[in-house]
Amino acid sequence: MYYFNYQEPLFRPPSEAHSLIFQITIGCSQNDCTFCGMYKKKHFKVRSGAEIVEEMRSMPLADRLMVQRVFLADGDALVYPQAGLLEILDQLATYFPNLTRVASYASPNSLTTKSVAQLKILREKKLRILYFGLESGDDQTLGLINKGFDSETMLSLCQKPQAAQIKLSVTAILGLAGRERSQEHAQATADWITRLSPEYFSLLTMFRRHNDAHFNLIEQLSNGEVVQEAFNIVRQLAPNKTILRSNHVSNILNLAGSYPKDRERIIAQVESCLREAKRDRAWYDLVPQYEETYF
Ligand SMILES: C[S@@+](CC[C@H](N)C(=O)[O-])C[C@H]1O[C@@H](n2cnc3c(N)ncnc32)[C@H](O)[C@@H]1O
Ligand code: SF4
Repeated sequence: MYYFNYQEPLFRPPSEAHSLIFQITIGCSQNDCTFCGMYKKKHFKVRSGAEIVEEMRSMPLADRLMVQRVFLADGDALVYPQAGLLEILDQLATYFPNLTRVASYASPNSLTTKSVAQLKILREKKLRILYFGLESGDDQTLGLINKGFDSETMLSLCQKPQAAQIKLSVTAILGLAGRERSQEHAQATADWITRLSPEYFSLLTMFRRHNDAHFNLIEQLSNGEVVQEAFNIVRQLAPNKTILRSNHVSNILNLAGSYPKDRERIIAQVESCLREAKRDRAWYDLVPQYEETYF
């Protein structure tokens, strides 16, 4: 990663590990989701185009020639005003002649700020993938976490990049709804993904990061219950064409495959893990301890 004077903490999806990151916004324009502590210590800000172009200019040509992918941070950089975003994409194309794709996080709020026509122009200028946090397809759970949008609204918002042929990578969180609504959360999330059929679907597992208030509202799932919830999702999932990945450090299970091709294999993998878990009652009942509270 090339180092600019980033305002930490800086996050990117695992699949953007080899991308050059430009922090075109600071924080998140929503920042109200109770389970998410990623940007709680930042005030949302749109950085000036001039500052960002200056960062591009500061890189030696030899380094710029090596850049093929760029990730725009922070939490929902798609919210950047359209005219300014077009200018940034134009400058990226000028300074990085070997650029093949630009990516960004996109909250539901950021998607309300862009029409399909605007997204199509962004795509022509190499914005090719958006990372979107569904978290749950269950409206009661979405209310509990204060996501700010219901599942039907988020479905229509995600259909906009789809119509503009921008790829979507959607995340949902195992254990988010606690014991109380684990089954409803699994069912509704699988249904939502089935209806949208995004290019990518990733499962994370609920972990601590400046979000004690959310943990106080739920009865946390044990290891075995997390695996059971994953099983409920993968067996109910039936999208037309979606790559499932579950490779975040918070996950108990590492899953990778394409629906519908690998559906049976994935179901069998999670089922076998569930069987093993039931044999080891001590492990099954343990509550996952992963946390990121160091910043
Ligand atoms: C930057 S956001 C994704 C894009 C956008 N801000 C949105 O909400 O749609 C990163 C994602 O990380 C996941 N995440 C954040 N905090 C988490 C936590 N404590 N446990 C598990 N997943 C978490 C959520 O899926 C969240 O949507
Ligand atoms: S989940 Fe996304 S929209 Fe919600 S606070 Fe976190 S970064 Fe912002």
